[in-house]
Amino acid sequence: MKIAVGSDHAGLEMKNAVLDFLKEIGVAFRDFGAYTPDSVDYPDIGESTAEAVANGDFDAGILICGTGIGMSIAANKVTGIRAALCTNAYCAEMAREHNNANVLVMGSRVIDVNTAIEIVGTWLHTDFPNEPRHAKRIDKISGIEAKYNGGGR
Ligand code: RB5
Repeated sequence: MKIAVGSDHAGLEMKNAVLDFLKEIGVAFRDFGAYTPDSVDYPDIGESTAEAVANGDFDAGILICGTGIGMSIAANKVTGIRAALCTNAYCAEMAREHNNANVLVMGSRVIDVNTAIEIVGTWLHTDFPNEPRHAKRIDKISGIEAKYNGGGR
C-alpha cells in the first residue's frame, strides 16, 4: 500500500506526525508538501495529492489543513476521489465501510495529534466490504460525477 500525503502550512505539524506514524507502521508514502511553514494555498496541494490517487499512482491519500474543509472541497473536485473529513475514529471507520473513501482529510485546528493518529490507524485498517447497498450508493456518486464533470470512475 502506498499513500499520498499532503497538507498546507496549517497542517504541516500534524502531517509530520502522521508521516512518522506511517514510517513506524511500515506504510509507504510520498509527501506532496507543504514542506515549510510558509503560507501556501490548500487547493494546490489538495489537487496534486488527490490527482496522484485518482490516476492510480497511490492507493489512497491523506490531506490536512486547518479545518479539513478546504482540502475536502478541493480533493472532491478531482474525478474519482471520495475525500472524507473525519474528526474521530468512528467517522474513519464509516468512511471506509460505507463510503469507500480513498482520501482521508483532517483538520489540524479541530482535532489533536493523538486523535489524528488514531483516525489514520483506523482508516488504514478498515476495508470496504463492498456490500451491495453501499456499492450502489457509491455508484450513484460516480453517476453525479459523470453528469456534472463528464467523468466518473
Ligand atoms: C489556512 O489559514 C486555512 O484557511 C486552511 O488551512 C484551511 O482551514 C482551509 O479550509
